[in-house]
Amino acid sequence: MADISSLGYLCVASRHLAQWERFAVDILGMSAGQRDGGGALALRMDEWELRLRIEPGPDDDLVAAGWQFETAEALRAYILDLAMRGVHVTSGGDALTASRCVEQLFFCSDPDGIRHEFFYGPAHAPQVFRSNVLRGGFVTGALGIGHYVSAAKDYDKTLAFHRDGLGLKVSDRIQAPLTTPHGEIPFDATFFHTVTGRHHSFATAALPFPKRIHHIMVEVSDFNDVGLAYDRCLAAGVPIMMGLGHHPNDGMFSFYAITPSGFAIEFGHGGCLVDDQTWRVRTYSQLSDWGHAPPAAAIAHR
Ligand SMILES: [Fe+2]
Repeated sequence: MADISSLGYLCVASRHLAQWERFAVDILGMSAGQRDGGGALALRMDEWELRLRIEPGPDDDLVAAGWQFETAEALRAYILDLAMRGVHVTSGGDALTASRCVEQLFFCSDPDGIRHEFFYGPAHAPQVFRSNVLRGGFVTGALGIGHYVSAAKDYDKTLAFHRDGLGLKVSDRIQAPLTTPHGEIPFDATFFHTVTGRHHSFATAALPFPKRIHHIMVEVSDFNDVGLAYDRCLAAGVPIMMGLGHHPNDGMFSFYAITPSGFAIEFGHGGCLVDDQTWRVRTYSQLSDWGHAPPAAAIAHR
């Protein structure tokens, strides 16, 4: 099967476009790119025209995940493989392809209602990317936008779709009790990577969460930017879902803030890479080896 290079972009539908723009630009450090005729906002994190698209819609949830291929040939080979595996794939058409700022696009749907878009040829913006607030920049490039974690309706079905259907590779697994404002619940998550090696571009968990996704993660190159973003959240009254902490599996130092859509964004630094030649798949018994506690403010918010 041809290899997915990375998770190139994500697309969210929201009723809160103006709040999203302020949150993404002033708190997270992205920059606002083009708006299309329907009012959708392209958010930039690097030289690409679009890494995160926020389009008007009632869901306030993730709509689509865009998987990048390095060549048009790799994309076509992958689409043929998907069809052979029984996955129903559709050609994107001109309007959808243009809305993602890419050259070619195909898509299918997963068991949780998330559309997977497979693309080649991202457009680069004519202007250099500049953040108003970051000291460094976002870790993107070959590693992609970051990752997202879905709240699976049927965990086994979601696992099978991403592993056997999409061909993502398992990085590791966490089975641990999860502390929530309503007490401890069992937590089981599986993490998947693509060929370029970000520890995970996608993970899914058996979580009683009302949205399709629990969170999106973006990574920054300067660890100070994690603390500075945390301070900006506190100053602006952005609710924190989990405070500063560290994950033992991907080594990410991060915190989780609640986005205008109600799911979280993990803002982190220092995630490890997977080399398939030497990587050992393990099961961890802790979600975090320190921190990531739900602060009192987050509990009050709920
Ligand atoms: Fe994460």
